[in-house]
Amino acid sequence: MKVPFFRLQSSAADIASVKKTLAGGWLTTGERAAELETLVKERCGTKHAVAVSSATAGLQLALAALDIGAGDEVITTAFTFTATCAAIVQCGAKPVIADIDPVTLNLDPHCVAGKINKRTRAIIAVDIAGLPCDYRALLALCRKHKLKLICDAAHSFGAATRVSSKRTVAIGVIGAVNVFSFYSTKNLTTAEGGMVLTQNKNIAERVRRLSLHGITKSALQRNRAADWRYDISEIGFKANLSDLNAALGVSRIQRFDSLLASRHRIAKWYLDELRRFEEYIELPPQFENTNQAWHLYIVKLNLKRWKIGRDRFIKELTKLGIGCGVHYIPLHYFSAYKDILKIQAGELYHTEKSYARVVSLPLYPELKRSEVMGVCDAIKELVQRYGK
Ligand SMILES: Cc1ncc(COP(=O)(O)O)c(C=O)c1O
Repeated sequence: MKVPFFRLQSSAADIASVKKTLAGGWLTTGERAAELETLVKERCGTKHAVAVSSATAGLQLALAALDIGAGDEVITTAFTFTATCAAIVQCGAKPVIADIDPVTLNLDPHCVAGKINKRTRAIIAVDIAGLPCDYRALLALCRKHKLKLICDAAHSFGAATRVSSKRTVAIGVIGAVNVFSFYSTKNLTTAEGGMVLTQNKNIAERVRRLSLHGITKSALQRNRAADWRYDISEIGFKANLSDLNAALGVSRIQRFDSLLASRHRIAKWYLDELRRFEEYIELPPQFENTNQAWHLYIVKLNLKRWKIGRDRFIKELTKLGIGCGVHYIPLHYFSAYKDILKIQAGELYHTEKSYARVVSLPLYPELKRSEVMGVCDAIKELVQRYGK
């Protein structure tokens, strides 16, 4: 059976929504982007949301809006996509890498605590696979050391978690700034896009201004008021979300509950089918009081029980028609990051050990039960052939 790692189906409503915008004559940032902002704000319960062209841009804007730059340190993980750390490098600050928790693959707050010094200004936490970080611990560190928490929530739109013994909140309201990705493979998509969420009006206004060159009036405002005069209050970025992109998000967010429920259902099918192979494959953790977004289904090979390594496992699974991926190659393994991060051998023990074990299996709402069973059958076949 052939099961691709990712596939996206656009509904008739998605196509109609994009067509309507295309026919409406206003394609760049305007009413549809504003509509998407409102829908995301309502869903997450946050005060402010700014639609942007990507989560990458959202992270750059977050750091700029918090005035983080040269001389500052920002603690983050190497077990992430380059965008998380690149934003820190690009703003002139120093990325400081903490190790991860080998179970959740998220930042380990104890390691973060050990990296804090007087130059530390912020922590960028990443909810790997849509599983929220230990925010109770991270928020406590931020409070104690007066740090800003930036949530790279690229994977976790739709997730919720405990932030105190009594309060469970949606991802999107926890950090000083929270950034979603609406890239094509993400839980909510606008093809390319993202959103910056914050409870702070000044940060939101600054992110909005900086997302459009630092211009004080949007194109729509200038067009509507036939007012050509504007100021550039500071040098900004070009990172606004077009209405054409937003139109897709507006349509898909209407059925987001059902898209998320499909992800949960698929994760349960994997769990039910693969739990009897847990000596060979560690399945993703699940926690009470946490509603994870199941962006990715990452399993970890128990390498002691395999005659082959992870790379060969992926090769064999691919030969059986199953698309899979690796999230993530630790950043310090990339040539561009070697000299920037200067990680010593063994310093990121769990990051490196986890990397050698992880395989991401197909997980997207369109996946049929028969396809999930096909993936599990292929894994069983590999257990029989290469398990020990
Ligand atoms: C953890 C993480 N952060 C940031 C990004 C960047 O997202 P975007 O493609 O929307 O810029 C990604 C993209 O995959 C990601 O996985």
